[in-house]
Amino acid sequence: MSDRIHTLSGYFYEYQKSVTEPESFWARIADSFHWKKRWDKVLKWDFEGPNVKWFVNGKLNITENIFEKNLFAFGDRTAIIWEPSEPGEDVRTISYKELYHQVCQFSNALKSKGIQKGDRVIIYMPMIPEAAIAMLACARIGAIHSVVFAGFSANALTDRIIDSGAKAILTSDGNYRGNKKIGIKAIVDEALEKADVETVIVCQRTGQDVTMKAGRDHWWHEVIVGEKDSNVAKEMDSEDPLFILYTSGSTGKPKGVVHSTAGYMVYTKYTFENVFQYSPGDVYWCTADIGWITGHSYIVYGPLLSGATTLMFEGVPTYPDPGRFWAVIEKHKVNQFYTAPTAIRALQAYGTDPIAPYNLDSLKVLGSVGEPINEEAWRWYYNHIGQSRCPIVDTWWQTETGGILVSPIAGITPTKPAFATLPLPGIQLAIVDPEGNELTGNSVEGNLCIKYPWPSMIRTLWGDHGRCKETYFSTYKGMYFTGDGVKRDHDGYYRILGRVDDVINVSGHRMGTAEVENAINEHPLVIESAVVGYPHEVKGQGIYAFVICDMSHRTEENLINEIKETVSKIIGPIAKPDKIQIVSGLPKTRSGKIMRRILRKVAEGSTDNMGDTSTLLDPEVVTKIIEGRK
Ligand code: WTA
Repeated sequence: MSDRIHTLSGYFYEYQKSVTEPESFWARIADSFHWKKRWDKVLKWDFEGPNVKWFVNGKLNITENIFEKNLFAFGDRTAIIWEPSEPGEDVRTISYKELYHQVCQFSNALKSKGIQKGDRVIIYMPMIPEAAIAMLACARIGAIHSVVFAGFSANALTDRIIDSGAKAILTSDGNYRGNKKIGIKAIVDEALEKADVETVIVCQRTGQDVTMKAGRDHWWHEVIVGEKDSNVAKEMDSEDPLFILYTSGSTGKPKGVVHSTAGYMVYTKYTFENVFQYSPGDVYWCTADIGWITGHSYIVYGPLLSGATTLMFEGVPTYPDPGRFWAVIEKHKVNQFYTAPTAIRALQAYGTDPIAPYNLDSLKVLGSVGEPINEEAWRWYYNHIGQSRCPIVDTWWQTETGGILVSPIAGITPTKPAFATLPLPGIQLAIVDPEGNELTGNSVEGNLCIKYPWPSMIRTLWGDHGRCKETYFSTYKGMYFTGDGVKRDHDGYYRILGRVDDVINVSGHRMGTAEVENAINEHPLVIESAVVGYPHEVKGQGIYAFVICDMSHRTEENLINEIKETVSKIIGPIAKPDKIQIVSGLPKTRSGKIMRRILRKVAEGSTDNMGDTSTLLDPEVVTKIIEGRK
């Protein structure tokens, strides 16, 4: 861990170097990895294409940097601690050596099923160690994994199977949610009614009944029989895609963000070790799901590249009771704990009684990710979980950025509630006004852009490079646009203000308003809809839908329930609107554009100050909507 920052002046020194000599800065970091062939040039780039290549012509395999590089030094060290949903069930601990053998064996099984370098493999699994093994096995043989969060519906899964052109799906029979069993394989079966893959491999978890289609479906525990538990990792180019991860954007169709191999590897390890100040022997726990980027970078790749012990938790924060997180911290003596503001707010609502029985003295660092953390939640987290002695790293980043870009370095950067504080080395931020002029100096507010490439940045959108350019590199010329608003205060500290586009952040899950509208419009009685976010005490933002319907067939209540079910079926329960208001019209301009600004105000509960409504086709509509809001 030689690239570790130890002091605040050390941070400023490294940051300065990363800006003035970015190539030698990243070459130094990358040199500590194992390369089958060293790169020819550190960086080639333009943001016009965009065309970004890091460690050009380098050859490597990311799993060799997790295993072969380290097995002699710490093969017996625990790689994964798995805490099951049911507190009474046995914990699983897997050492680096055991993980290596399981990954190799499963990757050999994938090869036997005909999966090769470049093939896409969908992983639709609960939070069990096999999900991480599945990802690493793909990486081992050069297959491109695409993890789909197991809370997505069959329909959403079908879209991702088709868009990625997947050859195989790795899944499980079922999943535990509290004391309920949820069929996972059944959802895969439904998804495969409208799409096709050659192979499905099913890991047994709940033991529930499933249908297996002969020739296509195989049991995980059967395909590994007779496979060797070692192999030679596939040689990959630095820029070969490592994975695709779908995320929401401002249009209806989810985007397949593509990450490449070497840059992602270098950046996730570097940031993991620095941000969390991980020391060998520490137990690190990130509560995200591996279906999201946080799970990819900071449960699996970053920690394992660092030889860390990473805890994987199958359950939910409130099962069997709202003290579960704190019980797990005590049980496994967790040192770094990384979670989302929505979980903190949800647990805060139960008060401090559920914390009292547990000893949280092992904690050294707390982390927050996924959405802006409000000051009150920050303080509660700091005082009651961190016992006023653990620094909080409020980490700002995105699926597209691959790793954390703005964050305190634990215990080194002075923190401020609700501030992500300062950019990490290598990250050149710019705040721009709506015309794209960079706002320099302190005490400014605007849209957040990034001026210079960093190793783990998005390379393309799967199958649609044009959309990648248009979404991220065209709004402001020569810069990557994040979609977030930001403020730089008088100290030069950054505070993320939230999305400025049509993306909302519900319980830390990204949701495109257009995506939800498309789902609502699938209901046969819906004529038109408009979706906006509104402030929600626990979720951060809630989903508010204004819907015009044919009301002659149903009661309002029935219709609202049916619409919620439709959304749940098309996207998944996480996208269900919190509020649906049936309206007779939507506020539109003469050119037919819906004025969301007004709808956002109504959703927030404002009854006046609607701003300029003179450009509306029918200003009366607004009065009716305000009256109709319950
Ligand atoms: C938001 C999650 C404020 C932001 C890693 C971003 C945050 C979007 C923070 C990306 C934070 C994430 N403070 N806002 N610390 N972290 N966000 O792709 O709006 O699921 O653009 O990646 O979450 O969400 P995504």
